Amino acid sequence: MRRKIIAGNWKMNMTPSEAVALCETLKPLVVSDDVDVVFCVPAIDIIPVVEAVKGTNIAVGAENLYFKDKGAFTGEISAAMLTDAGVKYVIIGHSERREYFAETDETVNAKVKQALANGLTPIICCGETLTQREQGITIDFIRQQIKIAFLGVSAEEAAGCVIAYEPIWAIGTGKVATTEQAEEVCCAIRACICELYGQETAEKIRIQYGGSMNASNAAELLAQPDIDGGLVGGASLKPDFGKIVNYK
Ligand code: 13P
Repeated sequence: MRRKIIAGNWKMNMTPSEAVALCETLKPLVVSDDVDVVFCVPAIDIIPVVEAVKGTNIAVGAENLYFKDKGAFTGEISAAMLTDAGVKYVIIGHSERREYFAETDETVNAKVKQALANGLTPIICCGETLTQREQGITIDFIRQQIKIAFLGVSAEEAAGCVIAYEPIWAIGTGKVATTEQAEEVCCAIRACICELYGQETAEKIRIQYGGSMNASNAAELLAQPDIDGGLVGGASLKPDFGKIVNYK
């Protein structure tokens, strides 16, 4: 039985002081014995947030990392910097990074390997555009994203990864995928992992749904057999996040 994982993606929101205040609001609301809770926060908020959630069930994640160890890469953050600061998870290949910051399946793969080599758990994002969905190529497109993301990753490493299926047309739009659409793709992702690594790995890897998840739709999505959690944007900045964590 896979343990559910609910992660907030704060995106480019919350100054360091706002971040600490939000942690104080959310801490009592996200207490859970059976769900992993992660706050993925902007780089500058990492240190104060790690401090603010000490002694709680909340783990801290980053929203990005660079795939090189160190050096002349102005503005970038390394895996070692993240782990030293207390980060456990890192979002990789979010559609906003692919769209606005030219990330490709190849850079996603390099970042996944860098995260794993440094003991970080990657939350690997995939998802189709509305046009791709309308053209009927959603599953083919996502299988391609997954296959490239996992190149050179061992079965043991893959089993510990998290994949987030986020249909681009459902992000920040209030348009949530139907439960059937979300489950269909998450199931196809698991089948793809099974082809790559076998049944055991496919049964261990956790697959999240993301895209307008909120307190009223979370329970139904999270009841699906292949949906093991959520990657939550807008609703992760509000007390609603506590209701998503405690969706049962
Ligand atoms: P929303 O929940 O705001 O739609 O964002 C989803 C997302 O992009 C999480 O990574």
